[in-house]
Amino acid sequence: MRKEVLIIGGGVIGLSIARSLFKKGFRKITILEKRLVGSEASYAAAGMLAPQSETESIDDFFRICSQSNEMYPEFARELFEETGIDIELDQPGTFFLAFSRDDSAVIKRLHEIQTKAGLKVEHLTAQDIKRAEPFVSPDVREGLFFANEGQVENRKLLAALEKFARINAIDIEENCDVSEILFENGDLIGVVAGGKKRFADEVIIATGAWTSLIKCGEIRLPKVKPIRGQMLSFHTAKRLFSHVIYSPRGYIVPRKFGKILAGATVEDVGFDGSFTEIGIENVRQNALEIAPSLAGLPVDEKWAGLRPFSRDGLPVLGSFPQCGNVHIATAHYRNGILLAPITAQIIADNVAGTASSEFLSKFGLERFLRLAA
Ligand code: FAD
Ligand code: GLY
Repeated sequence: MRKEVLIIGGGVIGLSIARSLFKKGFRKITILEKRLVGSEASYAAAGMLAPQSETESIDDFFRICSQSNEMYPEFARELFEETGIDIELDQPGTFFLAFSRDDSAVIKRLHEIQTKAGLKVEHLTAQDIKRAEPFVSPDVREGLFFANEGQVENRKLLAALEKFARINAIDIEENCDVSEILFENGDLIGVVAGGKKRFADEVIIATGAWTSLIKCGEIRLPKVKPIRGQMLSFHTAKRLFSHVIYSPRGYIVPRKFGKILAGATVEDVGFDGSFTEIGIENVRQNALEIAPSLAGLPVDEKWAGLRPFSRDGLPVLGSFPQCGNVHIATAHYRNGILLAPITAQIIADNVAGTASSEFLSKFGLERFLRLAA
């Protein structure tokens, strides 16, 4: 296909969309990235694929997350065949643990909601948990097991997606800030990138937490704000845990090799993407509550990233009612790694005009126009 497609933003969302468009036959794809591809929220993430642990209601958002989770084994296998990079998909299930009476109430509620909806969720006693994960705190009271969940090494996922782009002649232009999307008589003509005009037949906005900063003619882009998350990782020679483990206050993510990640803060502090002493200490304490023996491990990295959050906390997916060749895929908030495969499929189908997902009407832009009216 000879259409000129510009993707603004080279995070997991922009890179995944580029790959899906290429697989659909598009051959003139350029990713315009203001910094380096894969260096923002997608790099900062924990890589958990956890639709059940991270929901309290069984709604359209839960369904899109679950469907994307089911796409991961094929996504990982294909990426390995295409690039030789193993994204370390690991789906042995996750634990959600209670350490106090209040936590037990949270667990009871989650269990009730999810069993009523017919989902796979298992109640665990403290003994079950200690048998499966001997390094969990002796204070654990009970927990839930979500068998369909797991994790991916998001930094390897980014490396694989970037490699896919580079070996398939998808152009990547880094240090290239897009300030404006240009229209003539209501029709898309291109963008202003790095101060210069660039022609485009189709534009895809995948700019995460920075989406509201782009000018878009008469069109008001939906408000997306940054929500900071701070994390750290412990260095470990041996793999001490086999599952991602949540508490109501934090989580630990045991990577296959050498690291246990701990997260994360949820802070409304604008575009400040740095970590703080107090934030990191908070994350560390929440991790030690899950497993006190982590205190003996050296901390090898601390970092922060900015999650993209829309006004209703839900993703924004689809094209603009005013101009069908400007598309948007943003505001994945806490689940952008999980939602990458389905987002890429929905947006690539929409750009190609080959199929229409039910999720376009659920997560489209019309809801903000209704709000504005
Ligand atoms: P980003 O990765 O931020 O990419 C957007 C890109 O657009 C950036 O590279 C930026 O430089 C570029 N850009 C912005 N404006 C412009 C412009 N004007 N011109 C050119 N380029 C521009 N999700 C999960 O599914 N599981 C998890 O376990 C998980 N854990 C998380 C933990 C933390 C601490 C954080 C911060 C997030 C976590 N997330 C997780 C959420 C996930 O990281 C995000 O939802 C996801 O990365 C969003 O992807 P993105 O591509 O939209 O954004
Ligand atoms: N999904 C984990 C986080 O956003 O911290």
